Amino acid sequence: MTTTLSDTAVHRDLMGLKTSHHRGSFIDDLTAFATQHQAQHWRGTFAEFLSDILPKDPSKLTRSSHQYVYDMLCAYRDAPRITRGTGEPEPTATALFAGELFGIDSALERVIDYFKAAAAGSDVGRRLLLLLGPPSGGKSSLVILLKRGLEEYSHTDDGALYALQGSPLHESPLNLIPASLRPKFRSTYGVDIQGELSPYARARLDDEFQGDFMRFPVERIFLSEAARVGVGTYAPHDPTTADIADLVGSVDLSKVADIGDEGDPRAWSWSGAVYAASRGVLEMIEILKVKREFLYLLLTLTQEKNVKVSRFPLIHLDETILAHTNLAEFNKFLQEKENEALLDRMVIVKVPYTLSFRDEARIYRKLVSSAPAFRKVHFDPHVVDLASVFAILTRLQKPSREGLDLTKKLKLYSDEDVEGFTASDVPRIRAESTDEGLTGVSPRFVINAISNAITRNNLASLTSMDMLLALKDAIENDARMDAGRKKQWIEFLVLARKDFYNRWVKEDVHRALFASFQDEAQQLLEKYLDEIEASLDKREVEDPITGESRPPDERFLRSVEEKIKISESGKLSFRQEVVRKAMVAFKAGEKFTLDNHSRLHEAIEQYLFEERRDVLRLVTSKARPDDEAEHKISAVQERLIKEYGYDEHSAKEALNYVTTLLSQE
Ligand SMILES: Nc1ncnc2c1ncn2[C@@H]1O[C@H](COP(=O)(O)OP(=O)(O)OP(=O)(O)O)[C@@H](O)[C@H]1O
Ligand SMILES: [Mg+2]
Repeated sequence: MTTTLSDTAVHRDLMGLKTSHHRGSFIDDLTAFATQHQAQHWRGTFAEFLSDILPKDPSKLTRSSHQYVYDMLCAYRDAPRITRGTGEPEPTATALFAGELFGIDSALERVIDYFKAAAAGSDVGRRLLLLLGPPSGGKSSLVILLKRGLEEYSHTDDGALYALQGSPLHESPLNLIPASLRPKFRSTYGVDIQGELSPYARARLDDEFQGDFMRFPVERIFLSEAARVGVGTYAPHDPTTADIADLVGSVDLSKVADIGDEGDPRAWSWSGAVYAASRGVLEMIEILKVKREFLYLLLTLTQEKNVKVSRFPLIHLDETILAHTNLAEFNKFLQEKENEALLDRMVIVKVPYTLSFRDEARIYRKLVSSAPAFRKVHFDPHVVDLASVFAILTRLQKPSREGLDLTKKLKLYSDEDVEGFTASDVPRIRAESTDEGLTGVSPRFVINAISNAITRNNLASLTSMDMLLALKDAIENDARMDAGRKKQWIEFLVLARKDFYNRWVKEDVHRALFASFQDEAQQLLEKYLDEIEASLDKREVEDPITGESRPPDERFLRSVEEKIKISESGKLSFRQEVVRKAMVAFKAGEKFTLDNHSRLHEAIEQYLFEERRDVLRLVTSKARPDDEAEHKISAVQERLIKEYGYDEHSAKEALNYVTTLLSQE
């Protein structure tokens, strides 16, 4: 039975990552999982390992932790059925992060490059990977995904790992092979063995098997953070009480009594995080907060692949250290001169906030959809985008370039068209402000503000206006911000509303209004056509009801044409062209509609909109609208609800808002 990453989707289900399953099929999955899990298990003596397992693929069994992580990333890239996020297979090694982390691809690629280089044997593998970024910028999430990816990968055939049974370091069985026989091993299997036997395994080998390593039991292992196999995590608590024993263990007094010798490795508590992480990854949270003594130990561990514990010879350990820290801590660390040498032994990858509001909006959508408190709340269609625009504005540096302002810069960064610039300008504009995205508002700040507004006011419907007020409130009540910054951020709220929201909401109302009056638009079009035909033929128009004739309504024609800036001198050729198109449609037996002529479409749309403005004005007027007006208003409102993602409350608010905007124009 071969197992790939797609099979381990079952595993993912069990970890609660997908919940859309029917109960019956869940039990099937559970059964399949249990069967498969059992099938994957392997246990035997070292002799059996050498004959049955090793020859299949010796190079896989001598991989370093960096190679292993890199292979895992490639397995995600190559897995045929990765259906997270968009449901499309992701062609890059970033597939592991697809649908989970947005807008930080270049940081992700740098992380992948680190593993790629380290896997190829470059010296970067001897340096610790430090993720550096602003608060709640996705550093922990990135590491969590890597850890989950490793756990899954270890269940696949390609990711199979074997270890000496019972070893607290889950060390490679090949460590048993004595140094004197390693050259022969190399010439037989074509690969090198890196590891050394741990003191624990050595004691057991001598005592239990009298040195006969062929009898030492070996088993397949599965990386698991919960079981402390190949995934370790260390978070500094109080630095004054933090003990290096948390990392490397200490004498286990309860065992000393049984074993009778403090120096016996079996009387040592191997519970330290560095042992748990052996063969996989060690996550160091807030690494720069740890004592310097810890840092030296960790740097030696990455560089030399060993740790020194008082009573034992050097202990060989192969693991990848993934550390993260925030900017404030990093700057503090930089100030101390003696830290320079330490920095030299780290590979620093900056993880800035995204600067595309579309990616920021994806983050919010993910956070909102995963929080039960939000599930019953209706968001108007612009809440999330508008909050994202605000967030990005706080992260951008003021452009120095002629003709570029914050709004334009934001649009360019989000792949929108901006007059006078093209997408090819973006890299240069970015280069003009290095460190952009390392400050500003965090996703957590925004989500907290929204969630407070919802719970405090018991909202069932959150509108863009509610959201702006919630953010304003959060800014004003933030104790960490100084007055100048508060003022600036509130100005960003105003800017987001003025340059983005107003346009979006107007467009919605405009479109809804227009769509509710399709018939009227068609009638207008036909009227326009009748009038220009009469005008071109220099004849009168006959009124269909009264039968009387009158000259063409030039005022009507011009007011339509002016909407798209057709000049007095250009009107003739425009009209001739419209008639020509109408004839073509007519000859083909088709009806001439607005879809046949995009400029006329625009003109009629504008014309109708301005005519309907008066209806909109009734929305806010004190006078009660008559039945007909009422009917027209509710037609627009309904369309907003049906087609543009509003609910009743937010549709009303949008209509009101747009009316106020119109009255200011
Ligand atoms: N680029 C992003 N894509 C998707 N989600 C993100 C992104 N950045 C942050 N998040 C989300 O924001 C929340 C906070 O992120 P996370 O805890 O990973 O940040 P962090 O960098 O570790 O922050 P801290 O420095 O405060 O520990 C998480 O729920 C995470 O999923
Ligand atoms: Mg974190």
